[in-house]
Amino acid sequence: MSDNNDALVEEAMAGIAGAQSLAELDEVRVQYLGKKGKLKSLQAQLKSLSPEEKREFGKVLNGIKQSIQTALAEKKSQLEESENSGPDIEAIDVTLPGVRALPGHRHPLATTMEEVKSILIGLGFRYDDYPEVETEFYNFDALNTPDWHPARDMHDSFYTTKGNVLRTHTSAFQTRAMKEFGPPPLRAMTSGRCYRRDEIDASHFPIFHQLDVIAIDENISFADLKWVLYQLASALFGEDVQLRFRPSYFPFTTPSAEVDVMFNGKWLEILGAGMIRPEVLQAGGVDSEKWQGFAFGLGLDRMAMIRHGISDIRLMYENEEAFLRQF
Ligand code: DAH
Repeated sequence: MSDNNDALVEEAMAGIAGAQSLAELDEVRVQYLGKKGKLKSLQAQLKSLSPEEKREFGKVLNGIKQSIQTALAEKKSQLEESENSGPDIEAIDVTLPGVRALPGHRHPLATTMEEVKSILIGLGFRYDDYPEVETEFYNFDALNTPDWHPARDMHDSFYTTKGNVLRTHTSAFQTRAMKEFGPPPLRAMTSGRCYRRDEIDASHFPIFHQLDVIAIDENISFADLKWVLYQLASALFGEDVQLRFRPSYFPFTTPSAEVDVMFNGKWLEILGAGMIRPEVLQAGGVDSEKWQGFAFGLGLDRMAMIRHGISDIRLMYENEEAFLRQF
């Protein structure tokens, strides 16, 4: 009988060692320790034994049960470890639909900015970035905007503790560019963030984007300005674009104009423009007797909104996925 028992233990150990998965191991467990398992049928033999023999045989059975249980537990933790460390092949359902990775989208402001920029680069304007934190000189004084001007009020602009100002318009680059690039001819532009203290509503946001352009040369006239603006507008809005020039006032240009584009049956204002005032040329170190120039600046938020039919500027700054996914 004991030979038989040894054989049973050996067989069980071989079964346990050979199990390739937790499921297979459980089959082995049921086979030996289950309700109808091999150990149970041995236990059935107890009935026919004398009390003395029962005790002996009972011990033997317990020993067998324990060694099988120990071997099962060891193998189980081994299998668990290896099954956790690799992919659970059986748990991968290859028929499930895939998870689509959503690609990123260019923001309409970025694409508008880049498009305007590349059209103007094509017309011979250089592009450079300029500081967003500006001195009062470049943002205001150099642009003929004196102390008493309302734009300089604390309530209208953001000042740093050091007395600098977050640029209120990209026009702040104009005299910097003149100084930096020396004597004309000069065709230059910049774009980027501007800041003003505005109440937030559908068309106002304290951060917005502009693009500003200057051209300085001998014999530059308002006609050159118009030509450049028509080139730009027809590239953006189509060959048969209509523009309307309204007389206006800016401290740094004269004459000055606000320019509207006809879009979906309506005149929409898109930019401010004019001939650079002699005071501004002089602040940039340019001899205003010899050189003339034009300048214009456009609101990129507004331009992007017109082109994409966006009705609320706040959408441009919320970065809501559902909004951006449309572009
Ligand atoms: N800086 C002006 C603004 O923020 C826009 C502007 C008007 C820019 C006329 C120009 C210009 O360069 O010539 O309202």
